[in-house]
Amino acid sequence: MCGIIGAIAKANVVPVLLEGLQRLEYRGYDSAGLVFTDYGLKRLRTAGRVHQLCKLVEQENAQGFAGIAHTRWATHGKPSEQNAHPHFSGGESRIAVVHNGIIENHESIRTFLKNHGYQFSSETDSEVIAHLIAFKLKEIPDFFKAVCLAVAELQGAYAIAVMEEAHPERIIVARHGAPLILGIGKDGNYVASDVSALLQVTRDVIYLEEGDIAELSNHSFHIVNCLHDQLGEPVNRIIHESHLSNEEIGLGSYAHYMQKEIFEQPSAVANTLEMISNTQSITPNLFGSEAGKIFLNTKQILILACGTSYHAGLVARYWLEKVAGIPCNVEIASEYRYRNPVSDPATLVVAISQSGETADTLAAMNYAKKLGHTYSLAICNVPESALIRQADLRFLTRAGPEIGVASTKAFTTQLASLLLLTITLAKMRHRLPAHDERQLILTLRHLPNALKQALKVEPLVKNWAQNFAQKRHALFLGRGVHYPIAMEGALKLKEISYIHAEAYAAGELKHGPLALIDDEMPVVAIAPSNQLLDKLKSNLQEVQARGGELYVFADADSQITPSEHLHVIRLTEYAGLLSPILHTIPLQLLAYHVALVKGTDVDKPRNLAKAVTVE
Ligand code: M6R
Repeated sequence: MCGIIGAIAKANVVPVLLEGLQRLEYRGYDSAGLVFTDYGLKRLRTAGRVHQLCKLVEQENAQGFAGIAHTRWATHGKPSEQNAHPHFSGGESRIAVVHNGIIENHESIRTFLKNHGYQFSSETDSEVIAHLIAFKLKEIPDFFKAVCLAVAELQGAYAIAVMEEAHPERIIVARHGAPLILGIGKDGNYVASDVSALLQVTRDVIYLEEGDIAELSNHSFHIVNCLHDQLGEPVNRIIHESHLSNEEIGLGSYAHYMQKEIFEQPSAVANTLEMISNTQSITPNLFGSEAGKIFLNTKQILILACGTSYHAGLVARYWLEKVAGIPCNVEIASEYRYRNPVSDPATLVVAISQSGETADTLAAMNYAKKLGHTYSLAICNVPESALIRQADLRFLTRAGPEIGVASTKAFTTQLASLLLLTITLAKMRHRLPAHDERQLILTLRHLPNALKQALKVEPLVKNWAQNFAQKRHALFLGRGVHYPIAMEGALKLKEISYIHAEAYAAGELKHGPLALIDDEMPVVAIAPSNQLLDKLKSNLQEVQARGGELYVFADADSQITPSEHLHVIRLTEYAGLLSPILHTIPLQLLAYHVALVKGTDVDKPRNLAKAVTVE
């Protein structure tokens, strides 16, 4: 979602702002802009991509010692230059604001400010922030305090960076519900929505916390927290050294981040499972020092997540119920947070999120706590994320930065972690004798290699891509634990190739979707050699009998013979519990290659954002 980068230094910062915006592009956006100091605050904006902004910067020969910049993902008002950030409030001393998040009470603030003579030039919720600060500045002639007072009136989620024309020697930033990170440099100070935008200038970073407001100059910074005092109490925040490597955030020899991330899955999973590389037994401590005690009292699991992470939860339900014998519910976070579910203190809430900043997942986890669920566990890929900080227990997937909007390696590492959770709970519930535990650990250790094998089907999958690229719809079928994998395959295809794709539990076909089958509707089936294979084969015959075109991902030993309208790609032999993880790979590759044929923007599909930090 929106990205913020700000810089104040002893040298021209405009190149830093542009490089930062480029590194934030993956978050998803539709317009971009910046202000920089140039005898006042000068603004450049475009309703296009960052490279178009770069051209404007070049034309204007833009240079300045301080500036704030932004990529906007439209929520209030269409993508246009007028709605692009930074937003100004005019008057004697202009104020410029960039904002990530949503100001929920923007309408009442807008009305109030209009009644006081402020004129609005955009449709955005964000513009109210600039005018509100200007209004407060009239009450209290101190820019920092004016920002504190304005922020105290905002409801919703925000990360903001603000500059004042009269005092361009400082940038004020504030965080509430959306990530913001300070970069502490030798010759300047910086701020960004994520670390990758800061690495060009510094590795020393501070993760701002909820309610923090900071002032940056080119040689100093100070932070206050405003949760309990509108004007803030000074706080010390730890400076972390970021170990993120340029290799991790660069493309290397790959054409797209999604391609890179698909092929990184063996190492991402190996890193995530590193702790079991030398052990024959798993301890609950993997999930936090309190996990043993908490798991002992856990009678049920409630998984909350969105999108791909939700699919990981759906797979885990099968494992948790089958192997650990523990009841498990999985809910879409955005639905759960507005229901009136019956709470149970003995239910462990498991929130799954790649980014750890997904607004719905965070809100759902906190809502569950409010309802009376005692403990929460976060499974997440970003160490300093809000989700990790707010949960009682945590497990970090070690996928490395995932930059492609379509989630790939985050998903398979989430599944690996959820298998670890399953083994841990199964063991604690006396459902897993030591011998079986050792076997399962061995199986898990084999996963990175099995993923390497699965990736070898790429050339075969690529051959199918041409056929799909001509279609407008596709159906994905799976049964049992592979049904959520079919859902994940459909999600991948629709999000990057814009082909409408639906997933069905294959047994549901005849209850409706069979009516859709004709030669224009490719049907993808996930057909592992498990106990449901014969049932699935019957479902496939139902499709064939109606002239459907079948694309089947089978295991090596499944007796599915290809024919004119039945295409088959075989993976290795049935992989037991690992099977859903391995069957994910060809579906990711299929989506990727179809998108390539269609020529869509694979890493930044239209309308989507990487971290969905607003509702
Ligand atoms: O960061 P999260 O895992 O919480 O994100 C949840 C979804 O927004 C995300 O999985 C989304 O569905 C992906 N774009 C799917 O590829």
